[in-house]
Amino acid sequence: MKKILFATSEAHPLIKTGGLADVAGSLPAALAELGQDIRIILPKYQAIKLSEAPRIIASMRVNNADITLLETRLPDSSVPVWLVDYPEFFAFPGNPYLDASGKPWANIAERFALFCRVVVEVAMNRAQLDWQPDLVHCNDWQTGLIPALLSLEPTHPASVFTIHNMAYQGLFDSNTFASLNLPGQLWQPTALEYHGMLSFIKGGLAFADRITTVSPTYAQEIQTAEFGYGLEGLLQYRQERLSGIINGIDTDIWNPATDTCLTQPYSISKLADKQLNKAALQQTLGLAVDEKQPLFGLIGRLVEQKGIDMVLDCLPQMAELPLQFVLLGSGEKHFEQQLQTLAAQYPEKIAIRLGYDEALAHQIEAGADVFLMPSRFEPCGLNQMYSQRYGTLPIVRRTGGLADTVTDALPDTISNGTASGIVFDDANASALMEAIKRTLFLYDNKTAWKKIQRNAMTKDFSWQNSAQQYLALYDPL
Ligand code: ADP
Ligand code: GLC
Repeated sequence: MKKILFATSEAHPLIKTGGLADVAGSLPAALAELGQDIRIILPKYQAIKLSEAPRIIASMRVNNADITLLETRLPDSSVPVWLVDYPEFFAFPGNPYLDASGKPWANIAERFALFCRVVVEVAMNRAQLDWQPDLVHCNDWQTGLIPALLSLEPTHPASVFTIHNMAYQGLFDSNTFASLNLPGQLWQPTALEYHGMLSFIKGGLAFADRITTVSPTYAQEIQTAEFGYGLEGLLQYRQERLSGIINGIDTDIWNPATDTCLTQPYSISKLADKQLNKAALQQTLGLAVDEKQPLFGLIGRLVEQKGIDMVLDCLPQMAELPLQFVLLGSGEKHFEQQLQTLAAQYPEKIAIRLGYDEALAHQIEAGADVFLMPSRFEPCGLNQMYSQRYGTLPIVRRTGGLADTVTDALPDTISNGTASGIVFDDANASALMEAIKRTLFLYDNKTAWKKIQRNAMTKDFSWQNSAQQYLALYDPL
């Protein structure tokens, strides 16, 4: 049994902006079920959703800040959650990264540097909690200073650093390094310095005992210039410590047979009931209620990573084909505006819902026939797995976790029962359009389509296997 402190900036259902929250809300529970003593630690944001009042378990002074540590539990699990309470930083409306006006927090470096320092105090058993972890599992740049700071302690717990996205590195100017009051020896190109800037993620990449990322393919990709954002050299240097473990999904939350957000739950044996969810969704969205036209769905952050520009280029052509399209997401304003313009042009064919809406996300997974995920890069991706479990065949680009979790529908994969979606290669609109046309053709072949749906729905995306891989990784630490 290992004692694990799991440090994250978000965890579903307490606070979520993206897939990191899904992972942090389900991997620790899977590890607890495998007998590990695991605790989650995250900042106490104002937006956090708590079902019970947390209790105070410790107070401490860290870098001149008076911190209170609160304890609650991850809902539907036995996992304790420790909340770092520092109202001066965290008691404001907004999400973990953006303020209420949608701009990155002006003091975002200070916020996460303080969070990292508190995690180190807890990890070193200096918070009077009478509990010291064997290892600290850190996630993304927000926790990058933890392995670096731990390395300065003569004896310290081991650290694992998981990269959920190399595109976000926590880069700040050199003055920020000075203002954070960090130990001077960390200002080196072998440590936190990156071309004269402070890089939070480098703390994880340079100092963690093990580095993981969320799919085997992405573990290879980030060692190349195209996906490494200048850190590919460091990752190559540390490749013996670097591995890819594919994310699982929470199969209780994402289960079409028990999903309370749906008009009509369904399963493989009642696949015809999926249609009721499609009709309800078409109605809710104001699209023509039409069983025959395949409904394409997309849910995600509206950023370049997700290939939204390619989708925008395809939409006018898609609107002329026998299909409908629904998108739920929020992000860059220019994408939001262009999408809304197209929806106004084709109200019966295209529906756009801007914002964050968990129930609608479930209804789209269930009601759509096809799920679009043409990402330029995708460390793992969760929606393509949710889609397969809901019999909603994903169209994905062959990159990162998408390449590792979707099997392209080709004559041989259809006949041997492994096909589970449609995969295309080039990151451009014409390749995506080809994939969409190929999907329409396949959709017309009802026998083949149903067979692929059944393959997709029976694939095992549960955490069991991946949690075992994390245990094997922790074992020697
Ligand atoms: P990423 O973490 O890069 O955003 P993932 O596919 O790993 O991508 O995870 C995204 C998660 O966030 C999924 O659970 C998805 O359903 C959810 N999500 C993204 N945008 C929205 C939205 N606008 N409303 C509801 N859920 C969303
Ligand atoms: C990141 C990645 C996404 C991954 C998620 C959880 O946000 O963009 O691909 O699924 O983290 O690991």
